[in-house]
Amino acid sequence: MPDQAPKNVIIAGGTTGMGRATALARLARGDTVTVIGSSEAKGHALLTEAATDRLRFLRADLSSTAEVERVIDWIGERHQRVDALGLFANRVNRRRRETAEGLEYTFALYYLSRYLLSYRLRPLLEASPAPVIVNVAGVGFTGGAISWDDPQLTSGYGLMRAQLQAGRANDLLGVAFARRAASRARYVLYHPGFTRSGTDSHENPLVRGTIKTLARFFARPVAESARPIVEWIDAPPAAGLTAIDRGKPVDPSLKTLDPGDADRLADLTEALLART
Ligand SMILES: NC(=O)c1ccc[n+]([C@@H]2O[C@H](COP(=O)([O-])OP(=O)(O)OC[C@H]3O[C@@H](n4cnc5c(N)ncnc54)[C@H](OP(=O)(O)O)[C@@H]3O)[C@@H](O)[C@H]2O)c1
Repeated sequence: MPDQAPKNVIIAGGTTGMGRATALARLARGDTVTVIGSSEAKGHALLTEAATDRLRFLRADLSSTAEVERVIDWIGERHQRVDALGLFANRVNRRRRETAEGLEYTFALYYLSRYLLSYRLRPLLEASPAPVIVNVAGVGFTGGAISWDDPQLTSGYGLMRAQLQAGRANDLLGVAFARRAASRARYVLYHPGFTRSGTDSHENPLVRGTIKTLARFFARPVAESARPIVEWIDAPPAAGLTAIDRGKPVDPSLKTLDPGDADRLADLTEALLART
């Protein structure tokens, strides 16, 4: 869309996969893009490929709340406005791990970093004429649950349980943000479906190999899954909250988007942040 003014885009988790594809597509449209990732090498590979000073790479471990706060300060010192925030960072863990602040890793990276970035970048988002946040997770999927009594999964940890809990938490983050944040920013929950990305993040080589083979035959190309995100940045949806599962709108009355649960999780999250 050549008649659009260049945007300022922040991509959390953009050194590979859909975040990377979104960053490159937005750079091609003339935007300024900041990509955050934990790997210096992957960040530098992206800088080399993009070959433009409109791309900045910030190395940060988003599983740490202190690091997320540093990222927010870094962005605030360099930008007066954020037009789009893309939330992609995730990593699977076969065994339970704790972060620097003693939180379960998947909860901290996949959910809490997104919570902090969404809420704390609000002032910069408000400065944009058409701000949008796109949270890429698994909206529409009804498996899994929030473990209300033990969100840090201190007992009965499992890779899928942790992923599904954090995915659901992201669904509820979108619902709570649209209800409570008093922001003009449009919140988009996006489930891209099985995509040819993220296949390297499994520690188990057997699982990694199987997923890669399946992805070759059944998954969507990365650019195809990223395309709606690139377009939402140009033209944010009209509604405060939009949920799209593989191209189809998700019924807002779905149990996984329950406003009561969203409020409950937002309160739990604020209490947790007050303690860390
Ligand atoms: N691929 C699929 O089939 C699929 C399907 C449904 C939903 N999704 C969801 O879509 C999102 C994006 O998936 P993807 O396939 O594009 O994943 P991906 O290629 O694995 O990308 C994940 C990004 O997260 C970053 N990251 C991981 N740990 C980090 C940390 N501690 N600190 C900062 N950045 C970190 C990685 O960068 P570094 O390595 O540089 O840290 C990478 O840029 C994920 O939330 C995923 O759950 C994916």
